[in-house]
Amino acid sequence: MTPTRTTPRAPRVAAAVATAALLIGTAFALPSVAATTLKSLADAKGKDIGFALDPNRLSESQYKAIADAEFNLVVAENAMKWDATESSQGNFTFSAADQVANYAQTTGKELYGHTLVWHSQLPGWVSNLGTAAQLTSAMNNHITTVASRYQGKVTSWDVVNEAFNDDGSRRQSVFQQKLGDGYIETAFRTARAADPAAKLCINDYSTDGVNSKSTAIYNLVRDFKARGVPIDCVGFQAHLIVGQVPSTMQQNLQRFADLGVDVRITELDIRMSTPSDSSKLAAQAADYSRVFQICGAVSRCQGVTLWGITDKYSWIPDVFPGEGAALVWDNNYNAKPAYNAIATALGGTTGTPTPTVTPTVTPTVTPTTPPTTPPTGTGSCRVAYSVNQWNTGFTGNVTVTNTSSTPVNGWTLAWSFSGGQSISQAWSSVTTQSGSQVTAKNAAWNASIPSNGSVQFGFNASHTGSNPAPSAFTLNGAACTVA
Ligand code: G3I
Repeated sequence: MTPTRTTPRAPRVAAAVATAALLIGTAFALPSVAATTLKSLADAKGKDIGFALDPNRLSESQYKAIADAEFNLVVAENAMKWDATESSQGNFTFSAADQVANYAQTTGKELYGHTLVWHSQLPGWVSNLGTAAQLTSAMNNHITTVASRYQGKVTSWDVVNEAFNDDGSRRQSVFQQKLGDGYIETAFRTARAADPAAKLCINDYSTDGVNSKSTAIYNLVRDFKARGVPIDCVGFQAHLIVGQVPSTMQQNLQRFADLGVDVRITELDIRMSTPSDSSKLAAQAADYSRVFQICGAVSRCQGVTLWGITDKYSWIPDVFPGEGAALVWDNNYNAKPAYNAIATALGGTTGTPTPTVTPTVTPTVTPTTPPTTPPTGTGSCRVAYSVNQWNTGFTGNVTVTNTSSTPVNGWTLAWSFSGGQSISQAWSSVTTQSGSQVTAKNAAWNASIPSNGSVQFGFNASHTGSNPAPSAFTLNGAACTVA
């Protein structure tokens, strides 16, 4: 049976289209600019923007607020894996997986299933089964039980994950060793029987460009399609390194799409050596932009899923010591330059080029020296303002620190531009401009600034040649020190 969803995807919500069109179409015509989200932009394009969820983190307000606002798809980072759902044979535990499914349902997000058959996070009992028949039976029972439970909820499953080596040979997992090449076909046929409406995907890493490994999967998909073995989609994990987005990535995705399957970036993160700095973050932003552009350019690319929200909980530093900062929000939930780059790649701005939209060229921004104005104001706040500027455009970055001993709950930062600057788009705040007066209010998820804590937000703007920094800021009406 054929899965029900159409390909390529239609825009999700008419209202989102209208909202985004309004934002984009009037960016320069109106003095006032509303914050938008990656979700609203992706919705308008009919693409998924997903994230890997650890349900234990939902009790953290900033995590939950970003998760709620910025994504239209969710996948369990670990909760639906074999060791989480069937740690001993025949005893299924769905508490964590159900939390993820319930979160998807209550927030109206698509639920992606990861993963049914994988050599890793596989309980020991599976590897210890004596015979091929026992392993086949255990594999089919696992697939059937898990996929049936989430029938009607999970829209696509990573049925088999990471089955190949980099040279294109089969990974010598317990499934491969005991069952031979046919286990992948068996798994897909079993998954189709368990949930006929779910799309069935094969997923792997280091397959983002054209190479031996991606070609091996390409050949498998071509064979499956020729023989009528059910397969609907291919996932490209895209655990990338800054500066190393494969040059053949779009070509690679397109060749799979041309076989008649959907494609998806399933686990995107882009790591760097730590600590990060502004030039690494700018290069990372360019890479994020590139990946989203590639998915946008391939009509069968369903979307992009980020492998987490905040660097604080990323898997990277544990596995690659000395590397990290791979996600879009930093350890303190501040949006990194990648955020704006993704928004731009999703069509979130017009007319104002950002340094992150040209993927193959290192951004040639001219960092402006932070204002040398002596500290002003005696309020209990400090503002750091910096820009990256080019020609007649610039990106502004603002950090507001609460220097008082009590938390701020709900904030409005105000300032005046003296050089005719005009904001076209803002993120991590709701920013409006009337003449030279700018008012930035908190977004829903960053309303609180603890004592000695900070929030960051940013914006794109135009300038007329000179771009003087604001000399004064007020926070909730009280003057701040300018850092
Ligand atoms: O749950 C235990 C906890 O009880 C224990 O105290 C703790 C001590 O280390 O470990 C916890 O398990 C960890 C688990 O994540 C849940 O947090 C494992 O040690 C840890 O190895 C595991 O890492 C996950 C990894 O897959 C396992 O291979 C990462 O969170 C997860 O991001 C990562 O995701 C994979 C995708 O599924 C497939 N593609 C690659 C990607 C990155 O490796």
